[in-house]
Amino acid sequence: MENGRVAAPGIMLLTTVRSYRLEAFRAAANRLGVRMMTGIDLPDQLAEQWPGALPLTFTDIEESTRRIAAHAAEQPLCAILSVDDSGSLIAAAASAALGLPHNDPAAAEAARDKSRMRRLLKRGGVAVPWFRSYTTADDPAAVAAQAPYPCVVKPVNLNGSRGVMRADSPAELVVAIDRLKRLITAETDEDRPYLVETYLPGIEVALEGMLDNGRLTVLALFDKPEPLVGPFFEETIYVTPSRLPSSVQATIERTTADAARALGLVAGPIHAELRVNDEGVWIIEIAGRSIGGLCSQVLRFGVDVSLEELIIRQAAGLPLGDISRRDHAAGVMMIPIPEAGLLREVSGVEEAAAVPLIESIEITARLNYPIVPLPEGDSYLGFIFARGETPEAVEAALRQAHVCLRFEIDALLPVFTSP
Ligand SMILES: Nc1ncnc2c1ncn2[C@@H]1O[C@H](COP(=O)(O)OP(=O)(O)O)[C@@H](O)[C@H]1O
Ligand SMILES: [Mg+2]
Repeated sequence: MENGRVAAPGIMLLTTVRSYRLEAFRAAANRLGVRMMTGIDLPDQLAEQWPGALPLTFTDIEESTRRIAAHAAEQPLCAILSVDDSGSLIAAAASAALGLPHNDPAAAEAARDKSRMRRLLKRGGVAVPWFRSYTTADDPAAVAAQAPYPCVVKPVNLNGSRGVMRADSPAELVVAIDRLKRLITAETDEDRPYLVETYLPGIEVALEGMLDNGRLTVLALFDKPEPLVGPFFEETIYVTPSRLPSSVQATIERTTADAARALGLVAGPIHAELRVNDEGVWIIEIAGRSIGGLCSQVLRFGVDVSLEELIIRQAAGLPLGDISRRDHAAGVMMIPIPEAGLLREVSGVEEAAAVPLIESIEITARLNYPIVPLPEGDSYLGFIFARGETPEAVEAALRQAHVCLRFEIDALLPVFTSP
């Protein structure tokens, strides 16, 4: 109730304190005049630092659902959204409890768990590579004896390529499993699941889309022109529109829609990654969220609408409006961390920003803090954004700007580096 009147239903956005995107969602909600409440994964003791936000514990789905329902009884909600994977199970569970349209909790779970995803894709008739699930209790040598080569080993529920490693032989796989084990059991005594699957050669694309009642609308298809052949898989350059032939793009769209159906995803944003080779189009993964990090900034639709605005429009039952992309071509480079150490200095930013077609450069890594590269690390040094007439020109500008940047990194004493 506001001023004695029942407020129009608002949306709740679930986020972590680390999210880069809260502001973009807030700005979009303001622009649309949609009331937005945030549910933040935060201990109650720290809630004061986020006035107005509902503190939640994302690992406690039941209690979080109860809190959201209690809040919604006071201030009605028409949708609960998660900024990223971290809150997607709660968004699904709380939406189900409140009778709001959303993905089935089981589908939300499958979109976060790579083993479950592979099983459901296979059951739904979507092409999948050979795969098998293991746990850290399994003997690596026995796992290595079963795997096809080359293969990829990966944790089931991390992202940003953390812990994803290619192995070309049993000996390499044993080393990779060992490394993965240290990463995923660092904070627990329990056994942890992981997945081994055939390495799929080919080029990689990312599809950004929106599901409405199970129908897929493609918002953007990105090429990833930097070769991703391992042993680790740093995401770097994303450029849209794709330069692939339209028939291949159509197959990519169809495969993504099939994959969403196989998982049971029906509503809201999706981000899918696929590989294309002589044998066809393969789903690497499909997530029930939009593109991560600051990357969404690269997309502007219609007159000047952000991806976050489209997501809120759909959640609030507003028409999406014009979803044609505003720019001829656009791209982003996630600047990978080249080596472990302390980031001491970043230079060349002005020079890089002056490269034609470069729109902005955001250095997100903090000076004098340790930085960790893949496969253990979970961040980038920053982002470079470019817009132009053609994808070729955008890609070239991103590369040229990256060359201008210099990162001074002091090696850490071995005791401080990750194992
Ligand atoms: N089976 C595979 N074959 C080839 N490359 C793969 C395979 N699985 C993962 N990769 C590479 O690793 C990257 C990260 O793997 P992914 O399963 O998407 O995990 P994450 O959730 O960390 O992004 C992919 O974008 C792709 O480049
Ligand atoms: Mg991925």
